[in-house]
Amino acid sequence: MASGSTVVGLDRGNNTTCTINLHGATVVSWRVNNQEQIFVSKEAVFDGKKAIRGGIPIVFPQFGLWNYGPQHGFARIMRWNVERPPERLPTGDVEAIFSLSDTDYTRSVWDFPFRLTYRLILREKELHFNLAVYNPSIDTMCPFHLLLHTYFKVPDVRRCQITGLFGCMFIDKTRDNNMYQETRDVVTVNEWTDRIYQCTPQEIMITNVVSGRKMKIQKYNLSDTVIWNPWEKSKEMADFGKDEYPNMICVESGQVSQPIILRPGTTFEASQVLQVM
Ligand code: BG6
Repeated sequence: MASGSTVVGLDRGNNTTCTINLHGATVVSWRVNNQEQIFVSKEAVFDGKKAIRGGIPIVFPQFGLWNYGPQHGFARIMRWNVERPPERLPTGDVEAIFSLSDTDYTRSVWDFPFRLTYRLILREKELHFNLAVYNPSIDTMCPFHLLLHTYFKVPDVRRCQITGLFGCMFIDKTRDNNMYQETRDVVTVNEWTDRIYQCTPQEIMITNVVSGRKMKIQKYNLSDTVIWNPWEKSKEMADFGKDEYPNMICVESGQVSQPIILRPGTTFEASQVLQVM
């Protein structure tokens, strides 16, 4: 990879690839046998400032509106380092590692030292994500949210069925921010949807993603799942194509309803595995 380059590519062979933009370490493409799985808006801005509209931005250290800094935190708008360039493992899978540490800018909005390490492994039909947050302080607890804001590409969101959320409590951000309980075995999205489901199971499934396949989402050490589709509200978003909302669904694994409080000198680790079925 040339120095100064902004994208890093992982190539598993068989037209199975993953592309990471170092702006936010945002996964901007994941192709399985040449089929793109990830939605990126055609109006997305790649100016190295704004968060990329689509892909898999990393939300840290704050989910949602933030009194001190940008919405969804700064990790998705900073340039990450390549800790280890793509490397083929003995299994044939391909791994790359990225990192982000506190800077003068991050300390100015959020006065905590941190080190984030992001490891991606591309397998035949899977993409593995491992996030580690280290608190190097010797005496200060570090509170944060962490979430993978995954935009899946789908032919028609109205035909997607999401399973695994039955019985979970959720905050409905399109209503009154009150807590409700999911009573459906199968969750569908037919309107503006913005929900934080809490204490969700390790495995969530989405049907009718690309080529009529299923997407299995597995998460470890992350308590919540956010479901988001802006519907017609996307028309007010300058970096969202006018008719694109039927073609995406965000199903986001993270911990955002309660912050993680990390003791000094310790590391928090979490992961997600996406699998095309
Ligand atoms: C979701 C939030 O995760 O992200 C929504 O629940 C928000 O409330 C959406 O609108 C997109 O946020 P942004 O900052 O990328 O426009």
